[in-house]
Amino acid sequence: MTHLVALSGSLRRESLNTTLANAFAELAPAGVSVEVFTPAGVPLYDADLEAAEGIPEAVAVLKERISAAHGMILVTPEYNQGVPGVLKNTVDWLSRPPADIKHVFGERPLALCGASAGRGGSRAAQYAWLPTLRALGVRLWNGGQLYLPAAGELMGADGRLEDADMRERVRGFVTGFAEFSAQDRRD
Ligand code: FNR
Repeated sequence: MTHLVALSGSLRRESLNTTLANAFAELAPAGVSVEVFTPAGVPLYDADLEAAEGIPEAVAVLKERISAAHGMILVTPEYNQGVPGVLKNTVDWLSRPPADIKHVFGERPLALCGASAGRGGSRAAQYAWLPTLRALGVRLWNGGQLYLPAAGELMGADGRLEDADMRERVRGFVTGFAEFSAQDRRD
């Protein structure tokens, strides 16, 4: 079994990006499981809070689940052609304390994708993530690219990814990334 974690960068109930993350879980091939997370429960990073109380529970859970996964899919919204603060804040927490970075992110297979309301489909945000992902030392998968422009039009009333072509692209993306992650199995 290959196990992946998909972290959507939105708190919104009807988030396009969480819908995309759920589509990975739905369309993953046999032998691949995808566990979906959002930044829910993650406080704003505050070094005083960290010093007084340590790593917040929601962050500790995410760190543990990412560490147990063969690969991670970062599903990013795009805000003002950059990364959304909510997701950057979560990733910054996940990098604490620095001694754990290697365990959580170090050489972990990571796939980048996203959905947006605009025409770029999160393209600018995905590029904006690259310096951070490089700093964290992940193994970025470059075997596929996935942007969902005008993503609201691809979603159904049932809150699932509906567009048939996009469903096939999502299926191909998660299949390719799972194969890449499986080559790097740590279990
Ligand atoms: C946006 N949105 C947006 N969309 C886009 O394609 N390019 C952009 O630069 C921006 N910028 C932007 C800034 C801010 C502050 C907000 C709130 C929104 C629209 C964005 O794609 C849309 O709100 C998505 O629905 C956000 O993703 P979720 O929450 O649906 O996953």
